[in-house]
Amino acid sequence: MKVLLYNMTPEQMVYVDKWRKNHPEDDLETSEEILDASTVDMAKGFDCVSMMQVVDIDQEVVYKKLASFGIKQLALRSVGYNIINWDYVHKYNLFVTNTPAYSPRAVAENTLTSAMYLLRNWGQILQNEKRDLNFVREENLMSDEIYNKTVGIIGLGRIGTATAEIFSALGARVIGNDLIENPANEAFLEYTDFDTVIKESDILTLHTPLDPSIVNMISAEQFKQMKDTAIIINDARGPLINTEDLVDALKNHEIAGAALDVLTEENDFFMKKFDDISELPKTYQELAKMPNVVITPHSAYYTKTSVKNMIEHSMTDIKRVLNGQKPVYLVEL
Ligand code: COI
Repeated sequence: MKVLLYNMTPEQMVYVDKWRKNHPEDDLETSEEILDASTVDMAKGFDCVSMMQVVDIDQEVVYKKLASFGIKQLALRSVGYNIINWDYVHKYNLFVTNTPAYSPRAVAENTLTSAMYLLRNWGQILQNEKRDLNFVREENLMSDEIYNKTVGIIGLGRIGTATAEIFSALGARVIGNDLIENPANEAFLEYTDFDTVIKESDILTLHTPLDPSIVNMISAEQFKQMKDTAIIINDARGPLINTEDLVDALKNHEIAGAALDVLTEENDFFMKKFDDISELPKTYQELAKMPNVVITPHSAYYTKTSVKNMIEHSMTDIKRVLNGQKPVYLVEL
């Protein structure tokens, strides 16, 4: 089989080379480019394309050309599939696979790390120490313990469920909301409605896929309903939170902190270096200065296990399809 893998990075190459060694019959070509209208022609002559990008593939010509090259499968090396234009997928009889099981635990552990960092006021402690050389254990640094807390999870797929298990194992009360309720999860979480999760959570964490109907799901109204001691964590997709409303909520002390691994405008500045904070979008300049906010560069997923599995799971599904079998991870929308 001939596969073109877009968005290639050195750490993924290790596993591409491994696949090549174990499957000498397969022809894998790689490119650092994203898939878009300017790069789609590279896919001519291949059986399948594979991508791991956060930039939307929204130009019709991409889908039209892939179909005209005889390509049917768009194999995402990601959990999220919001970059796909589903109208064009259906129009050109294409289908999409993803890699939702590469490591739910990677993201869940990042959520735990963020929660503990904010809960224990490490942002303030580090700012006092590094910026002000202040090593005083001030009263505002006093924390609480996780088993006294209610953790609220929006979206209980693989990642949300792994997150629930971790916090439940630490003794926290875990509540959650999803369209689909899995009775097996009731061993470690209580399902409840969206508003109750917003109101009762001390730690509110988002793990839902992005679709247009839930853009700005967390906006001014939700921040007003949240406890003023609550923290919010977004390891899912930036547009789930209205960033300007978040900044206001933090400034007005409607919530106590935020950990953001994803941002609405992340394509403008993640994976880039800047000389001055003024080069960042205005809202993010404000967030970057707040000790009770932590921004990470879409790295929640970024573990050795994830990177290895995103190549292996995606390649396995491509091979299955080209051998006439059903893919394991077909995205059906
Ligand atoms: C995902 O797998 O959905 C992620 O957010 C990782 C990203 C590099 C595409």
